Amino acid sequence: MSDKIKPEDLDWANLGFGYHDLPYRFRAYYKDGKWSEGGLETDSYMRVSEAAQSFHYGQEIFEGAKAYRRKDGGVNLFRPNMNAQRMNRSADRLLMPHVPEEMFVEAMKQVVKANQEFVPPYGTGATLYLRPFYFGTTPMVGVHAASDFTFEIFATPVGAYYKGGLTPTAYVTGKLDRAAHAGTGRAKVAGNYASSLLPGDEAHKAGYSDVVYLDPRLHENIEELGSANFFGITKDGKFQTPKSPSILPSITKYSLLALAPEFGLIPEETTISINDIDRFAEVGAMGTAAVISPVGSITHEGKKHVFYSETEVGPYTQKLYKRLTGIQFGDEEGPEGWIVDVPLD
Ligand code: PLP
Ligand code: COI
Repeated sequence: MSDKIKPEDLDWANLGFGYHDLPYRFRAYYKDGKWSEGGLETDSYMRVSEAAQSFHYGQEIFEGAKAYRRKDGGVNLFRPNMNAQRMNRSADRLLMPHVPEEMFVEAMKQVVKANQEFVPPYGTGATLYLRPFYFGTTPMVGVHAASDFTFEIFATPVGAYYKGGLTPTAYVTGKLDRAAHAGTGRAKVAGNYASSLLPGDEAHKAGYSDVVYLDPRLHENIEELGSANFFGITKDGKFQTPKSPSILPSITKYSLLALAPEFGLIPEETTISINDIDRFAEVGAMGTAAVISPVGSITHEGKKHVFYSETEVGPYTQKLYKRLTGIQFGDEEGPEGWIVDVPLD
């Protein structure tokens, strides 16, 4: 048993991106072709067979989302239905039954409400990170799909994913792939992250923030930045992000593609060659954990390419960050349906 944390133990402004064992998580179980009703549980540990499918053959998918404390004390979720829909597309790829979208979103609300004293205060920049995950539990040694599954959502308060938050960091291209061309890169599958550990470690040891993954067929086109999608602002006013079958369709990316025209930027999903990155005035990583993290430089084959500045954030990156987080924390009105209020009593 790990010790449960208390809100007064937390330094909200200096949280980092770590796990804390909070009082409640939601669990539901799939057995005999149907879902249990599911509900909140207090024990963060689970009892699972040593031969559970997911330990050996990797039927495990997950999601990442955040709950945001508003100025009025309420709490927002940001586009939670998109997480539910993406989880079910990941489920299709790994031959797992769908999690009902309504159960998924309601479970998110229940977990936030039950752990509401751990939603960081407005103004600290911190949020309550929600981690839905879903895995096969049927005991087996042959390679088959499981028939029994557990779905859980836990929560943990988090600060910035990359040290420094909105300050530029340095990236480097890698030679190893996180996913195959027609593999599982589009799905949020645990195995993709296992593949990313070694290239990530090599980049960190060389002093970089993370890896720039190139496409697995040609090793020429930009795919992802560590655990986030890539964007670049071209010198002629386009917001560009890679189009590829092996990258994760990021909810933050679709949101920024929708917001870019508000700043006069033309949104574009397109092929982005690593040999043509000097056309970008600004570059950044985008994702739930990363939010918008400016990229100061990318080093490729020993040559460093600097975007805007290695120490200062570019003007479009700043504007997009302010707009996105303004919507998420409820300071600004966003497009219809993006914000879901969490009833707290
Ligand atoms: N790419 C990868 C590999 C990720 O793990 C994530 C995180 O979820 C993202 C991109 C960003 O996706 P989203 O904006 O939906 O969080
Ligand atoms: C997220 O942004 O939610 C992620 O899942 C990225 C990482 C923490 C795995």
